[in-house]
Amino acid sequence: MPEFNLNINGQSKTVNVDADTPLLWVLRDELRLVGTKYGCGIAQCGACTVHLDGKAIRSCSVPVSSIKKEVTTIEGLSDDANHPLQNAWREHDVPQCGYCQSGQIMSAAALLASNPKPSDEEIDDAMRGNICRCGTYIRIKKAIKTASKQ
Ligand code: FES
Ligand code: FES
Repeated sequence: MPEFNLNINGQSKTVNVDADTPLLWVLRDELRLVGTKYGCGIAQCGACTVHLDGKAIRSCSVPVSSIKKEVTTIEGLSDDANHPLQNAWREHDVPQCGYCQSGQIMSAAALLASNPKPSDEEIDDAMRGNICRCGTYIRIKKAIKTASKQ
């Protein structure tokens, strides 16, 4: 199998997988970074969201062979789960079952990195692709607004 050299959360990693293996499965099965979740597998739910060079991508739908830039997962978002969004998520007690939440936080983090003070409409636009079956949308939005004030 071909070898791929990846930069994941600031560390160099080498994996031997088929070229069309989705990044999601490399993260979860090869590197044991299981904070990134599988929901739909077709880029429709956002559960698998990670950053590629700071931009939110759906890792279920990106082959490992196309990854040329740094990948950040929920495990690498902050040193000690102390990103302003993670603090705000705790403050607002956002998760219910929790399954979608790493994807939600990664999408929100990409938004705030490019737009530190988003409007309500900009938050809605950025988060529209992240589905929460538990319906935590109102708390997610409150937490993003809290983090944007820090
Ligand atoms: S698992 Fe990737 S978008 Fe749903
Ligand atoms: S908290 Fe359960 S799916 Fe979002």
